[in-house]
Amino acid sequence: MCIALVYVFIMFASPSTGANILVISPTPVYSHQTAFFELWTELSLRGHNVTLITTNPMNDPKLRNLTEIDMKHTYDLMKGVTSIINHMTSIWNTYEYINTYMLAIFNEQISQPRFQELVEGRGNFNLVLVNSQHPQLLIFGKIYNCPTILFSSFYLYGYNHEAQGNPSHTIAHIGYARLISTVFYLRDWYSVTYELLPTRDRALNKYFNTSVTVRELLRDVDLVFLNTNPAIHGARAFGPTTIEIGYERKPTSIKLEKGLKQFLDNANDGFIYFSLGSNIKSKDITRSLLKTIIEAIKEIPYTFLYKYEGDYLDDKPDNVRLVKWAPQCQILRHPNIKLFVTQGGFQSMEEAIYSAVPMVVIPFFADQEHNGRLMESKGIAKVVNRKSLTKEELKGAIKEVLRNSSYRETIERLRQLARDVPMTGLEKAIWWTEYVIRHKGAKHLRNPVADLPLYQYYLLDVIGVLLSIVVVFVAIAYFITKMFFMMVVMRLRIQMDTVDKKYL
Ligand SMILES: *[C@@H]1O[C@H](CO)[C@@H](O)[C@H](O)[C@H]1NC(C)=O
Ligand SMILES: *[C@@H]1O[C@H](CO)[C@@H](O)[C@H](O)[C@H]1NC(C)=O
Ligand SMILES: *[C@@H]1O[C@H](CO)[C@@H](O)[C@H](O)[C@H]1NC(C)=O
Ligand SMILES: *[C@@H]1O[C@H](CO)[C@@H](O)[C@H](O)[C@H]1NC(C)=O
Repeated sequence: MCIALVYVFIMFASPSTGANILVISPTPVYSHQTAFFELWTELSLRGHNVTLITTNPMNDPKLRNLTEIDMKHTYDLMKGVTSIINHMTSIWNTYEYINTYMLAIFNEQISQPRFQELVEGRGNFNLVLVNSQHPQLLIFGKIYNCPTILFSSFYLYGYNHEAQGNPSHTIAHIGYARLISTVFYLRDWYSVTYELLPTRDRALNKYFNTSVTVRELLRDVDLVFLNTNPAIHGARAFGPTTIEIGYERKPTSIKLEKGLKQFLDNANDGFIYFSLGSNIKSKDITRSLLKTIIEAIKEIPYTFLYKYEGDYLDDKPDNVRLVKWAPQCQILRHPNIKLFVTQGGFQSMEEAIYSAVPMVVIPFFADQEHNGRLMESKGIAKVVNRKSLTKEELKGAIKEVLRNSSYRETIERLRQLARDVPMTGLEKAIWWTEYVIRHKGAKHLRNPVADLPLYQYYLLDVIGVLLSIVVVFVAIAYFITKMFFMMVVMRLRIQMDTVDKKYL
């Protein structure tokens, strides 16, 4: 009786729907974190016990099923970013540069006691979700013997697509000429194969004493979540294990501060919002670029809201209000906003589209140049080059986007297109997460193409066999024909010989 009661109690105490989920989101980049706040929140509210390694804990006491392991201190490792970018000469460096940063962050975080407890396998988890910048951490799927989901707050590097069997052919990267695209592809392949992945493999071996490689872990991933929406980021072919969960995020509940709200409300002719995002600090960009920007702003007859992290700006124009940090979603949705000058970060671009605010883009690094060009090709932004930027050029771009109504009309259409979906990205992400939990993985969805060697993928062996058959047939036909003619000729000769003899 007692045993039966205990059994019944256990049955009810551990509901079959609530899973233990480990989320590893360790990148100290604000937008990489905010992109998923709603997902972690919603999963915990649905009764899952979510353990989240993050650099931006939400600290919401209402979320009782969410345990946050705080890695905020690793923001210190990102401090030098702007000054390094100022001196970066080519976009080639971006890759190595990001890899170096991610590795430094990993080295620091893994030494933390809370992280070490996980490395030792304490606790139990039914599912592990890992940010795609840190693929070596997929090892936790092995440690806890459970399925894994890889998630990206923006696009994915090609090697992730390959591991899922998604086409990663060079023409999959639209927007570049095929020759350039192929050169990029090969360069990428080289960096990944000889730099990025080997360094991650060494880190894995060092901290986890394992000979498993990152490529093997990636091939073992059950699902991949991509923060894209084809209406915005372009259509691309995916296998069934890659889920696009890009969606319109709810603006945070943070209200515009009273003075700022009044200022924006009073900008009757409209205002322009200028922000280079959270990685690039306006206070750290080169003096000459800052000067160009300030001089251009001075000559544009609009009010500016400028996200500037310094305490003081030399020669601040009268039409500018500085803010050290800005609740961007609220600002972009203010009825008086006319234009957004941005660095072209993935989330900024997305927020601009969902708010239908056209842009002028000054790209700095990573995907920003690509994002800017994509938005320009859609007719919702103008891109300027920060290295050769002149006052006239920046003024010209801003004026053009303000004056030509086609930018605003096009972005409004794009917003409607991006919102017209059967279910939101958030709903999709939750459904698929619980699907993986219910079925203890999703290996049955794996694209069989992913496990083929390249020569089979490109049908080189099949083409070889078919060609050999054709060659053999042609050869046989040739010899038969040749023999046939030789026989005919011989016959004729013999006949001619007899004829000759007859008449001789
Ligand atoms: C926490 O999870 C339990 C189930 O495990 C659920 O019943 C409860 O509503 C959740 N509470 C909150 C505040 O998320
Ligand atoms: C929920 O997760 C936390 C942190 O990992 C853990 O301490 C706690 O025991 C878990 N709760 C349940 C009911 O599994
Ligand atoms: C590492 O793993 C190997 C084989 O699994 C084992 O023999 C060795 O003791 C491990 N080393 C450490 C430091 O745990
Ligand atoms: C307005 O901008 C669009 C998109 O860049 C361009 O095609 C069009 O020619 C522009 N119209 C004028 C009047 O400049």
